[in-house]
Amino acid sequence: MANEWGPLEKLAGEWEGEKGGLDTAFSHSKGEVLGTPYREKCTMKPFGPVDNGKQSLYGLDYKSAMWRDEGNPFHTEVGYWLWDAATGEIMKGFVVPRGITVLAGGTTDADSVSFSLKAALGDPQYNIGENKYLAKNASSLSYLVNITIGDDTWSYDEVTMLRMNEFAEPYAHTDHNTLHRVG
Ligand code: HEM
Repeated sequence: MANEWGPLEKLAGEWEGEKGGLDTAFSHSKGEVLGTPYREKCTMKPFGPVDNGKQSLYGLDYKSAMWRDEGNPFHTEVGYWLWDAATGEIMKGFVVPRGITVLAGGTTDADSVSFSLKAALGDPQYNIGENKYLAKNASSLSYLVNITIGDDTWSYDEVTMLRMNEFAEPYAHTDHNTLHRVG
């Protein structure tokens, strides 16, 4: 049998990205869309199995933080990556401490090194939850992340579509980074 963590196996460990990340977001303090390079640290710890009846999941418990330069991170996430070997379902459930929760999902193969996960507001499975203020003023309509895994490195490229009061059309809040193994 292949390893229980499937495509998540290579993501276990400690990771860093040195100012290679790039965020595009609307800055309220500047009143415009800014492209911001960022540094990142991420830890992913294996756990499992977690059984739901006949379903058996293995996962990674993760924390990530992104910084502009020094000082406090400008974005953090805590959550779980999950893998169901029986169906090839892969999931990333996480919280962004703006008052947003996301369960993104997709399907892939156990030995895959490239896959995508999606979530959307109101989707019956892969959903986005948000606080009342954000629902009114800066609502997260959808989330898509593409993952590419190499040897001791991995990359993500993600797009969160936001309905913001400042724009007539949904706006693409994008982030990408390449992380390197440090542990
Ligand atoms: C690497 C990932 C991410 C980074 C580095 C990041 C960073 C940022 C930054 C710098 C802002 C602008 C804050 C400001 O100056 O006003 C922002 C806004 C926002 N982000 Fe992200 N973000 C990331 C991922 C996400 C994800 C995954 C979601 C939701 C699923 C999200 C939802 C939002 C929302 C709703 C706002 C708007 C808040 C407002 O305008 O009032 N972000 N983000």
